[in-house]
Amino acid sequence: MANVVVVGSQWGDEGKGKIVDWLSERAEIVVRFQGGHNAGHTLVVDGKVYKLSLLPSGVVRPGKLSIIGNGVVFDPHAFAAEVEKLRELGVDISPDNLRIAENTALILSLHRELDGFREDAASNSGTRIGTTRRGIGPAYEDKVGRRAIRVMDLANAETLAGKVDRLLTHHNALRRGLGHAEVSHADAMAELTSVADKVLPYMDRVWKVLDDARRAGSRILFEGAQGTLLDIDHGTYPFVTSSNTIAGQAATGSGVGPAAIGYVLGITKAYTTRVGEGPFPTEQDNEIGNFLGERGREFGTVTGRKRRCGWFDAVLVRQAVAVNGINGIALTKLDVLDGLDEIRICTGYRLDGKEIDYLPASQSAQARVEPIYETLEGWKETTAGARSWADLPAQAVKYVRHVEELIGAPVALLSTSPERDDTILVTDPFQD
Ligand code: IMP
Repeated sequence: MANVVVVGSQWGDEGKGKIVDWLSERAEIVVRFQGGHNAGHTLVVDGKVYKLSLLPSGVVRPGKLSIIGNGVVFDPHAFAAEVEKLRELGVDISPDNLRIAENTALILSLHRELDGFREDAASNSGTRIGTTRRGIGPAYEDKVGRRAIRVMDLANAETLAGKVDRLLTHHNALRRGLGHAEVSHADAMAELTSVADKVLPYMDRVWKVLDDARRAGSRILFEGAQGTLLDIDHGTYPFVTSSNTIAGQAATGSGVGPAAIGYVLGITKAYTTRVGEGPFPTEQDNEIGNFLGERGREFGTVTGRKRRCGWFDAVLVRQAVAVNGINGIALTKLDVLDGLDEIRICTGYRLDGKEIDYLPASQSAQARVEPIYETLEGWKETTAGARSWADLPAQAVKYVRHVEELIGAPVALLSTSPERDDTILVTDPFQD
């Protein structure tokens, strides 16, 4: 039996929600280990649609323990709102089924504001990242800068005041520089005091909860957010999110050893999308891109922004397989390609006249690479709702086999519609 980590192998939005939900039925514990409420995971359970941003997907299933690990940046306001919304949908949420690591850094209003100030200022200079404006980057900066307010600090009013002082010295200097009003100590303290009661009941020593669970043989699912190409180190820097999104972060972001993670499942869309700014070698800013966007309903769950769309890029996913140690992929949205006469796959890049088989690390080289494509024949039949290989047209099977070969990883699961049961299971990651 393996514990499983699920990661996005592209720029996020690969369809993790459905797969994580499918796997969470088989797990006892579901853990978020990075990111924050910038994520958007849509789950359809028994016909009900749940849109989660911050809470682990296990929270909608009775009898599962959901955990927000220390690698997450935690917005207490977004947390309270999400809990409220889920309760209205009949979901039970209490410290019995949800824990938050005591050492998790908080996102406060001043982080969200700073994210917005910077994005607004950058929109004139062409350096905008296109963030979700949720304060994710500024909160991680404060964590690494050793001035963050953490969940446990909410429990101690005496030490909290000093920490707020330290945080405001930094933020008010930035705010003055950007031409914005300072935040008063009283306002910051009032904000923290107002959320303490909503958060503290869930606080726990998560590394210990997970260690005990692991020793007792519980199955743990680590739920990644965003995607490999948005990783702060391995992504298309600086057009990335501010956390490590890759599989190794499941260990540091929750407090388990790397050996506790047995199987790495990379969620992979049968084409490519990205939201926000940054390089995208196979982008199709044309009728193909529009076709993929409309057929695939490519609008952001969190911000509603239209996603940029393009052909499958095997170079990027092959790199994601390497940096995550992906054991198998869950291939999603194959049906979006139904009906196309031809389908292209990027197998390499041309950079300054030379062929390369990797994404270069430099920003300027990433902007210059030109994709080298192979063209495959499409299929006319529908793959939507297929539940076995025999239900798939021969050309679709050929496409999937070719993807496997190019990326160097097998398909463990093939998802053929948003419905839970429209899934072809090749390998159960928990049994591998
Ligand atoms: P941030 O995470 O809000 O700082 O945004 C940084 C970059 O990551 C932007 O390009 C966002 O569009 C992108 N991003 C953040 N979260 C997600 C996600 O869940 N799916 C896809 N892109 C995301």
